[in-house]
Amino acid sequence: MLSALLARRRPGYSLEAPFYLSEDIFEADMEHIFRRHWIFAGVAPQVPEPGDYITVEVGADSVLIVRDDDMNLRAFHNVCRHRGSRLCQDHQGSLGNIVCPYHQWTYDLEGKLIHADHMGEAFLREQHGLKKVHLRNLEGLIFICLADEPPADFEEAAARMRPYLAPHRLDDCKVAAQIDIIEEGNWKLTLENNRECYHCMSNHPELTISIYEQGFGYQPGPQNAEGLAQFEHAVNESRARWEAMGLPSARIEELDTRVSGFRVQRLPLDRAGQSQTLNAEVACKKLLGNFEDKALGGLSVWTQPNSWHHFMSDHVVSFSTIPLSAGRTLVRTTWCVHRDAVEGVDYTVDNLTAVWNATNAQDRRLVEAAQSGVASSAYEPGPYSPYAEALVEAFCSWYVDRMRAGTTAAR
Ligand code: FES
Ligand SMILES: [Fe+2]
Repeated sequence: MLSALLARRRPGYSLEAPFYLSEDIFEADMEHIFRRHWIFAGVAPQVPEPGDYITVEVGADSVLIVRDDDMNLRAFHNVCRHRGSRLCQDHQGSLGNIVCPYHQWTYDLEGKLIHADHMGEAFLREQHGLKKVHLRNLEGLIFICLADEPPADFEEAAARMRPYLAPHRLDDCKVAAQIDIIEEGNWKLTLENNRECYHCMSNHPELTISIYEQGFGYQPGPQNAEGLAQFEHAVNESRARWEAMGLPSARIEELDTRVSGFRVQRLPLDRAGQSQTLNAEVACKKLLGNFEDKALGGLSVWTQPNSWHHFMSDHVVSFSTIPLSAGRTLVRTTWCVHRDAVEGVDYTVDNLTAVWNATNAQDRRLVEAAQSGVASSAYEPGPYSPYAEALVEAFCSWYVDRMRAGTTAAR
């Protein structure tokens, strides 16, 4: 069924219903997308000190991400090499060594088995270290890959994103807030919703205080030429200023032209032009990195298949999408500020999180309404706007290409 559905997918149209509803296709998504590609797993400030860890669930696989004593980030399967017990049950925490709760096999922070009682003389500890998972720290954004051979083009994608991200120094930030929500919808509907701003003006009164809707996949068309010209003028003015400060801003759009698809662009913000807040002014007085100018717009970073981020002068807001089942998706939002910023003095969590808390709640309702709709017998794939939904098409065409590649290879 899946191969036939992939073969007949009509470009420019939303996907057929089974892609959003079928548990079999959900399993195929986990196998061919989430266990084969680089997945955004979290931000480095979630594990600031040696021994700090987070766990990330990718389908049946649990991945343990830990900072070792040399401050390197490492990822392991969260599975004991004795009889397979889950090692760390919590989403985050701190430990000296990794001790299995079952029979106390003990691993160091490099994954080496250093202690196992009653195993006899012939037992070789060195053959029972934790299984590694590939990890890359891209300027504070942590990506993992469960495949034996991860997509090699990630390195080149990372090299092109790095100059955009580096000035914000996410590695030197702390987590100010992290909020999980569950959307009762398929993960692809969450991503499709993220990849257009066609819905922004009518649904996001808080977000559209600071963002221009035209920045996210709008193409010139008969109905939007004037607004687009004004927006382009604002972009060109800001870009000249940012480039002079050494901040790259030009759009790189490689969402469906490579295996490790991504998009980066620094865009001006409206009104005060500083940050995605209720008055478009910075939410944190202490700026990131060496920044002195508050009006650095928003650097938007998107990666296939599961993340988007906004980097501003004062904070970074980061989103990861983790599929839970065909009809349930975890959306984790993390707000980071400078490590030395003081809550209550430099920022308040309420102000920092106000826009995206409201926006996430609105998006959740939109995704859930879409999920209900595609389950109806009346649903059939509908056309994407060529002027406002080109990046939704880029997401779907990337997904279909990667699923075709995966299912063909698996045959
Ligand atoms: S299963 Fe981990 S020590 Fe036995
Ligand atoms: Fe939205």
